[in-house]
Amino acid sequence: MSSSPFNPLGPAHDTSRDPQTELESRPARRAGVFFASKEDHTREIAERIMLDLRKGGFDVDLHDVRIPLAFDLSHYCAAVLAASVHQGNHEKEMIRFVRDHRSELERMPTAFISVTLSEAGAERREATPAEHIQFVADVNKMLDTFFKQTEWYPTYVKPVAGALTYSKYNFFIRFIMKRIARKQRADTDTSRDYDYTNWIELDKFVENLAAEIRIASVAASSPENPTETARRANHA
Ligand SMILES: Cc1cc2nc3c(=O)[nH]c(=O)nc-3n(C[C@H](O)[C@H](O)[C@H](O)COP(=O)(O)O)c2cc1C
Repeated sequence: MSSSPFNPLGPAHDTSRDPQTELESRPARRAGVFFASKEDHTREIAERIMLDLRKGGFDVDLHDVRIPLAFDLSHYCAAVLAASVHQGNHEKEMIRFVRDHRSELERMPTAFISVTLSEAGAERREATPAEHIQFVADVNKMLDTFFKQTEWYPTYVKPVAGALTYSKYNFFIRFIMKRIARKQRADTDTSRDYDYTNWIELDKFVENLAAEIRIASVAASSPENPTETARRANHA
């Protein structure tokens, strides 16, 4: 699997009007990017997503989920969550964050970015078919575990290849990671770091995501939307 295909499931498209014209007349919307990272690679990914969404016309807040959030998520039109995996599990801080905010997340378009070395294996061109199948199965298993742990199913899911950051590991972790890397036929020169993320593909994913969020926002604020009609009526 070079990557998960962009999930086209999304809010209903309103074909009765031109979304582009509609969008251009609207103020920028605010989106939240939330991340959990141990060796900072997912932080870099979250920063890139923030910049991409800003290019797409959104106001964006970036938030490390280790820091408690002082407000709820209801003023965001969309949320992107990114977490890496260590020993088979996404960061516990992200699991806690999703559990705490699940009902708010369920009311907006969301994307979950899962950062792993297994995805790097799945994207490696030299992997044999059997290795490829195993890496993909590992990625899916870690995602399934996360969805069961949080009982949250985001609108979009994107597995992203992570990094081997030998320079940030202590002696013991460096030794373990080198052994794992050797077993997986990944890079074992511990005198340098390896970045396996396909940044261009990540940019494309966020570009598509931004377009989907804009369409969802237009549909949600349409007078034909019963919820919006009720909301406006309450404010009259
Ligand atoms: C101690 C340790 C355990 C890891 N366990 C896994 C794992 O179980 N599965 C996997 O695919 N990647 C695993 N990784 C790789 C990380 O997911 C990868 O390095 C990622 O880029 C880390 O992101 P971060 O810098 O945001 O924490 C592990 C890395 C370390 C250092």
